[in-house]
Amino acid sequence: MKQEPMIQRYKKSERVNHWIVAGCFVLLAISGLGFFYPSFFWLTNVFGSPQLARIIHPFIGIVMFVGFFIQFFRYWKYNFFNSEDIKWMKSVKTIITGGEVGDTGKYNGGQKGMFWLMTGCMILLLLSGLIAWRQYFSGFFPIWVIRLALLVHACSALALIAGIIIHVYAALWVKGTIRAMVEGVVTQTWAKKHHPRWYREMMAKHEAKEKQEVEKETL
Ligand code: HEM
Repeated sequence: MKQEPMIQRYKKSERVNHWIVAGCFVLLAISGLGFFYPSFFWLTNVFGSPQLARIIHPFIGIVMFVGFFIQFFRYWKYNFFNSEDIKWMKSVKTIITGGEVGDTGKYNGGQKGMFWLMTGCMILLLLSGLIAWRQYFSGFFPIWVIRLALLVHACSALALIAGIIIHVYAALWVKGTIRAMVEGVVTQTWAKKHHPRWYREMMAKHEAKEKQEVEKETL
């Protein structure tokens, strides 16, 4: 059977970066929920013992923050909203029933909203986490600031967990998307259907490159 033509969506370094952040997130969510709800305390054994979880959780948080901010600097320029995204967001019913709306670029309105939610949560988690980090920083702050930081930490963690559940669900639901982050490629049909403007941009780049190569060969 003839294989469908593919388009590269993520380089290897981007995929490794993404899965390091995702792995950190899972470990942090498990241990964090363990600290937060007494009935989930057993989850703190994810690192071997509750004491180890207490020590390791903040360090993994730093790794996730650094990893995410590398992603942030890779993708921020693709995540500004435009009128096509507003059209997309106003058509939830069509999207949910498998349709597509608007001339979507590399990311759609929902992905862009998720990107900024992730960014906001990451900043709040880092700042509140540093204030609440007893071993190194809590001593510099009055108790009410530490309590406020813990409240902000819990709220932003819950918002991020809810956001990531939607992020993962959308990635699994739109057939062919997981492949983008696992193998780095998508089919042209996928790109044309879900991200038509990005598809045209990629094809134009590809044609320009081919033309350049032909010109080089004929010189
Ligand atoms: C844990 C399971 C996860 C799965 C299965 C997953 C899956 C995916 C997939 C398939 C894409 C490509 C979407 C596309 O190109 O259209 C993607 C993109 C992305 N993911 Fe994840 N992801 C996970 C966790 C996370 C976490 C924890 C974060 C950060 C907090 C994250 C941040 C991103 C970002 C920033 C992008 C770039 C696209 C965008 O701006 O939406 N992912 N993910």
